[in-house]
Amino acid sequence: MPKHTVVTMPGDGIGNQVLPEAIHVLDAVGFEANYVHADIGWECWIKEGNALPERTIELLRQHKVGLFGAITSKPKKEAEAELSPALKGKGHQYFSPIVSMRQIFNLDVCIRPCLSFPGNPLNFIRKKPSGGFEEPGVDAVIFRQNTEGLYAGVEWTNPPETVRQALSLHPKFKPFGKVRGEDLAISVRIITRPAAQSICEAAFQHARKFGYKSVTICEKPNVLRETSGMMEEVAKEVQKRYSDIPLWSTNIDAQTMWLTKNPEDYGVIVASNLFGDVISDAFAGLVGGLGFAASGNIGQEVAVFEPTHGSAPKYAELNPPIVNPIAMILSAAMMLDYIGETEKSLKVRDAIAAVVAEGRVRTYDMLRISGGAKSLAQGAASTTQMTDAILAKLGVRVEAAAG
Ligand code: NAI
Ligand code: MG
Repeated sequence: MPKHTVVTMPGDGIGNQVLPEAIHVLDAVGFEANYVHADIGWECWIKEGNALPERTIELLRQHKVGLFGAITSKPKKEAEAELSPALKGKGHQYFSPIVSMRQIFNLDVCIRPCLSFPGNPLNFIRKKPSGGFEEPGVDAVIFRQNTEGLYAGVEWTNPPETVRQALSLHPKFKPFGKVRGEDLAISVRIITRPAAQSICEAAFQHARKFGYKSVTICEKPNVLRETSGMMEEVAKEVQKRYSDIPLWSTNIDAQTMWLTKNPEDYGVIVASNLFGDVISDAFAGLVGGLGFAASGNIGQEVAVFEPTHGSAPKYAELNPPIVNPIAMILSAAMMLDYIGETEKSLKVRDAIAAVVAEGRVRTYDMLRISGGAKSLAQGAASTTQMTDAILAKLGVRVEAAAG
């Protein structure tokens, strides 16, 4: 009997293409697991009026570790229009299943490593004052608070009268009080001290464990005085227990400028939900973009690992598939770390590093060409060919894949 059971949630679009590739790689490093499939995503919304069915929540509750591909989500009106006729008008409301999953299991710590692999043509380069270019190595790990902030889901268009009244207690609401209900949209930014403590603590622990030289709190406390103010205050408190690791403080807007100026200076970065989302995508752009961006959503009991990319519908029907499986495979490696299989995760990363360094097998994104069926004829590797190259570095012989 394998020691581990992993709940696999391929979801929509390219999630179905990349998740099986990650499992091939897990097999190749000798990770023995039962994989239990769970439904999630747009089909579930259309047919059941719920993108995260109760049975999937139950499987996660039972098995505790999940691998997730991606889901499709669409704006409110389209979501309503696509709902199956029998479910229309019954009060079903679309919620992002990944956001719901984070909230249900309190997966409050999101880790997004942004590490450049030498030889990746997508790596950030910088012009040197003396002429020529340099390629600073980037190794930043973003700790994003995953359950609160602007993604807490407390929002209205046309807020109820009681909400308007409550908001009127704040003098700054005065000019908005005159706005007609249907012209007024409100999203609430919520930060709680325990969640701020949890994410800051996780960030410092990671910095200490892996030898990062600083932790940066990336917020906007000069304007968002209450919510960002609390995040910064807590970060300072937590830092007192890590006196060997300095705490830097940056504003989210300035940070997005500095990340293309001196990205190599940053180690661990901690931020609230939306800012962490923004800054982790921005850093991912320096190390290869969505094809390389992995993440883990970690709670006290349950953890779910996923590439940060979405379902890329425009490539979902291509056969053979063309998208880069590396982000998903790196997410699986993060899962190995989480369950203590660190030797195996190292092997996975080394195999990816070797394929990238060699430069013979590159998916379309790595070649900076447009995606599409044509990209294979232009020399891009298919999804399977990329996985096969990684498997070959792990000593698995694979027959040449078509396409
Ligand atoms: P996306 O991440 O699906 O795709 C954006 C573009 O990035 C793609 O068109 C493609 O050019 C590139 N890309 C993404 N993954 C790639 C990979 N593995 N290899 C190579 N290129 C890759 O984001 P988009 O187009 O904004 O959203 C599509 C759908 O995905 C939407 O319904 C959106 O709501 C959903 N989404 C879901 C997420 C999740 O499951 N966590 C996250 C982001 C978007
Ligand atoms: Mg994802």
